[in-house]
Amino acid sequence: MSRLACVAKPSLSMKPTGWFQVAWSDEIAVGEVHRMKYFDTDMVAWRAESGMVTVMDAYCEHLGAHLGYGGTVVGEVIQCPFHGWQWNNEGRNVCIPYQDRPNRGRRIPTYPTVERNSSVYLWYDTAGREPYFDVPDIFGDFGDDSTAADYYPQARLYRTQLELHPQYVLENGVDFAHFKFVHQTPIVPLFTRHDFDEPVSYVDFTITFEGDEGQIIDDINSGVEAINGGLGVAVTKSWGMVDNRTISAVTPVDENTSDVRFMVYIGRVPGDDSPKAEAKAQAFGQAVIDQFAADIEIWQHQRYTHRPGLAAAEFDGFTAIRKWANQFYQPDHQGEPQSVSQ
Ligand code: FES
Ligand SMILES: [Fe+2]
Repeated sequence: MSRLACVAKPSLSMKPTGWFQVAWSDEIAVGEVHRMKYFDTDMVAWRAESGMVTVMDAYCEHLGAHLGYGGTVVGEVIQCPFHGWQWNNEGRNVCIPYQDRPNRGRRIPTYPTVERNSSVYLWYDTAGREPYFDVPDIFGDFGDDSTAADYYPQARLYRTQLELHPQYVLENGVDFAHFKFVHQTPIVPLFTRHDFDEPVSYVDFTITFEGDEGQIIDDINSGVEAINGGLGVAVTKSWGMVDNRTISAVTPVDENTSDVRFMVYIGRVPGDDSPKAEAKAQAFGQAVIDQFAADIEIWQHQRYTHRPGLAAAEFDGFTAIRKWANQFYQPDHQGEPQSVSQ
């Protein structure tokens, strides 16, 4: 057999299509200009007087000043620090202070943006298509009447520029065998739903963190429902255990690294606003974050394996999620086509 067969395959494309978190809402106050880099692109996010957030490329189309260094919000537009040109939320030039008409031909690239669950999401698509699916809503999408008021404020983890890909995090969701080792569950969880028909996919599983190895999964009365909105954002809801919901968001920064954000909501106990209840919620939230951090420890050192050697029971889940993931890669940013084999 040729040695060439052992050469490492190219990794997954870092330019997948979808919604990706680029900031938390409270990082961008009214009138503020926030600098960031995602998808190998310098960007700014700014909040107009009306409260609307715009995400656009960072460089002024006049002579290329970086709007994140001295750019200012003036009402509903951003003003460049260099010569005072003003740009609106569509990236269009609306004012040149020393000329009676704007430059209608120039436009700073902007990104469709949604604010939800205290997060700012942008739509990224190298093919330039408008959003064709929705970013998940942790309260609206689980078919119950819950709202943020039913939960304590979100606890957060934020890790920047880790060498991992958004797809790792989603594959974790079908990876029943890792729970016992990475998360110390007493028994292996059971997946009860794998629905990968649409860009928004659904995974449910029965899981417990309590008891010992002697339990039978059929007797377990707790679990997790997950909704994956493309590769960038996944939300979960627990049942039968301490009421918790999570959002995981992984956003490519450049060809090698991603920023990771993870948020946990712990349910309030109706009628109990005591500091003790809050302290308990905080401790539980931290425990959930610690579990996610244990995953990160694996992911950030993992080498993506295009043709993994799977156990028989892993085959269906991994086949389904990788087939589903393929739809988010554009032909010109394909990377290696994925398959799985036993
Ligand atoms: S570079 Fe922005 S106004 Fe001149
Ligand atoms: Fe995990």
